[in-house]
Amino acid sequence: MKHYLIFLNIHHLLGLGLSLNIFTATTEKNTDLVAKQQRINNSVDTFSNFSDVMNEFDILENWSRLCNISPTGYNDFNIVCIIKGNSSIKLSEFRNFTNRVSSNVRFDLFVTCEDGLLHFPWPFKADKLNRIYIKNCTIKDYRTEYKNPLLESIPDTIKYLQMDNVTISLRFGELYDSLSRANSPIARSAECGPENAFSIIRSRIKVIFEDMHNFPLYDFSTAMTHYDYYFNTQKRTCLYNNLEVFEISGMEDLENTNVNKIVHTDMAENLKILNFSGNGMFDTIYKLQGWRLRFPVMEYIDFSDNNIKVLPMIRDYGMTVEKTKSVGIIDIRRNKITSLTKGMIDSFSTHEFVKVDISENPFLCDCGIIEVLEYLSSKTMPKAYDYLGSLVCANPLNVRGRQLLSLSLTELNCNKETVINFPIIVMSIIAIALFVITLLTLYFRNLIKVILFTRLNINFACKIKNDINEKKDYDAFIAYSEKDVDWILRTALPKLESEDAGKACRLCLHHRDFIIGNTIADNIFKCVENSYHTILLISSEFLKSEWCMMEFRAALWKSLHDKGRYLIIVLKDNVTLDNIDPDLKSCLNSHTYLKIGDVLFWDKLKYAISFRHNTKQSN
Ligand SMILES: *[C@@H]1O[C@H](CO)[C@@H](O)[C@H](O)[C@H]1NC(C)=O
Ligand SMILES: *[C@@H]1O[C@H](CO)[C@@H](O)[C@H](O)[C@H]1NC(C)=O
Ligand SMILES: *[C@@H]1O[C@H](CO)[C@@H](O)[C@H](O)[C@H]1NC(C)=O
Ligand SMILES: *[C@@H]1O[C@H](CO)[C@@H](O)[C@H](O)[C@H]1NC(C)=O
Ligand SMILES: *[C@@H]1O[C@H](CO)[C@@H](O)[C@H](O)[C@H]1NC(C)=O
Ligand SMILES: *[C@@H]1O[C@H](CO)[C@@H](O)[C@H](O)[C@H]1NC(C)=O
Ligand SMILES: *[C@@H]1O[C@H](CO)[C@@H](O)[C@H](O)[C@H]1NC(C)=O
Ligand SMILES: *[C@@H]1O[C@H](CO)[C@@H](O)[C@H](O)[C@H]1NC(C)=O
Repeated sequence: MKHYLIFLNIHHLLGLGLSLNIFTATTEKNTDLVAKQQRINNSVDTFSNFSDVMNEFDILENWSRLCNISPTGYNDFNIVCIIKGNSSIKLSEFRNFTNRVSSNVRFDLFVTCEDGLLHFPWPFKADKLNRIYIKNCTIKDYRTEYKNPLLESIPDTIKYLQMDNVTISLRFGELYDSLSRANSPIARSAECGPENAFSIIRSRIKVIFEDMHNFPLYDFSTAMTHYDYYFNTQKRTCLYNNLEVFEISGMEDLENTNVNKIVHTDMAENLKILNFSGNGMFDTIYKLQGWRLRFPVMEYIDFSDNNIKVLPMIRDYGMTVEKTKSVGIIDIRRNKITSLTKGMIDSFSTHEFVKVDISENPFLCDCGIIEVLEYLSSKTMPKAYDYLGSLVCANPLNVRGRQLLSLSLTELNCNKETVINFPIIVMSIIAIALFVITLLTLYFRNLIKVILFTRLNINFACKIKNDINEKKDYDAFIAYSEKDVDWILRTALPKLESEDAGKACRLCLHHRDFIIGNTIADNIFKCVENSYHTILLISSEFLKSEWCMMEFRAALWKSLHDKGRYLIIVLKDNVTLDNIDPDLKSCLNSHTYLKIGDVLFWDKLKYAISFRHNTKQSN
């Protein structure tokens, strides 16, 4: 434990400069060598011969050239590699070495790159490897051992794993081969990574495809039909009995994935730091309901530098019962929270064992904040919440940079009267409704069918699943651009997923239902496979985004190859059909599409989602 805490401190102190400091640490240790040898001479331990280990290392073709090995303790060695220019190293060569040296040795491996390449298959298993730290590198062959049966025969020795600013360079073939299928699931260690680790840190990782351009849609789909293409999500519970630090940070793509695995599925009872900093997340925090029950010794949940706009209710499950447990800090600094209310502050400031830090958010200090000011000055807050009074306003301009408790009432512009004339609004709504109903009856007779279908709950299929052999987790997978996420979250979700009309659909959303650690493509395929329908939300943003095109391709492929499933195209923002991608255009020509502006849009969409039922019956 002590050893571990020291590591943590060093890690935080060194930050980005870690690579430099490794070297100073190493040379210091070299001067200690004589003392260490003396201890070894005196020790009765059977120790591996230093020179044996060094000699074995010298035999290696590339590792010996690019890396320095030095002893750091009785049985411990540091290996520091700098991979420059066009050079590369293979994990397999290192494994050959670690297999040969005596069993009581441990290696700590630090690799930094200056353009160099690593051929390192995840999860970087090698016998006797205690720590691995990879910085600034491009990794190839990352998924090549996902299904290799030999993987499980290598001992799971990694205690500390850290990757920082790493690019994973995949080939399409490699990705497809590594997808989990019913008859060839991926290995446990590929799914879980190092299960004995104390710390797993993955920061600023991105995935690129080397051969994206060599893989036209047609080849892709043909290749895939050769497989028994059935996704089998393992949904294993990974057991991280030692794990104290879990970090996934600085990932631009993570907005599309989620943290279900570590937050809901895996076991990590000793987890103390859960770090999702800098990932552009905006709703993940809602998934942490009940976090105390799963993580009883949690000390720090880091959501700083994300896009959280609305603060959820933060609870303190069970902590009053067992007071020996730690205070958990929930760090929501530098997000996008603008509004501050009395209820919000009340929801967390009463908990003794949780401290929520919302400082450095762009707060709006207008008239609405008066009740907060009154509340803060009237109530004695727990000490941990002293900081609330000095929260800094971002808007409006006249109070920018000011602290909350320094504001005076006159500065808050509370004079404007916003009287809403209720009767007029209600009347207008009724008038509009009547108008719409009249229009419908007169001009949209066919569509009344749709309305009857949805409104009277006749044969609505979202809930009717039992008579279909194939059971799926979702009614529909929605493919959309990140930029449309607000619309999805605020408009589409309440319409489709709410139980209001007793016909809730279950939707697979990439920002919510993706499994962390899987690639985006992997997640999309699983989502499409586990959904009866694929809905494409085509907006101008969607068309612009490269990533979305890939998502689209996968969805398109899947829907074309499985007649029982339906591709539903939804057009947003008056998208012009003139200059769009040919693939997409041909798709629009052969599928009916819905426009969001359509009066009956939601009915049509639900009708379309229900269509699956009819198709299956006629099969
Ligand atoms: C350790 O022992 C070896 C011989 O067993 C000897 O040559 C060497 O000088 C000793 N080293 C120290 C630091 O005592
Ligand atoms: C250490 O290795 C050298 C060279 O392989 C060998 O001659 C020597 O006997 C070894 N010593 C021990 C204590 O194993
Ligand atoms: C060593 O590097 C060279 C050049 O990068 C490569 O061709 C060779 O296969 C490598 N050997 C091993 C064992 O990794
Ligand atoms: C690496 O690049 C250097 C020049 O930058 C060249 O001389 C050498 O042959 C290259 N090595 C390999 C294996 O391509
Ligand atoms: C590792 O050893 C195996 C067999 O012992 C050999 O086939 C393979 O080429 C070696 N790999 C490297 C990178 O040296
Ligand atoms: C990262 O790699 C780039 C080249 O790809 C190099 O210029 C840069 O110095 C490296 N940064 C660090 C911190 O090693
Ligand atoms: C991250 O790595 C890339 C190369 O892989 C390099 O170009 C870039 O400078 C690195 N960024 C930092 C902050 O080290
Ligand atoms: C979380 O990760 C970020 C980025 O690596 C780091 O700056 C921050 O200190 C970490 N937070 C904790 C609590 O470790």
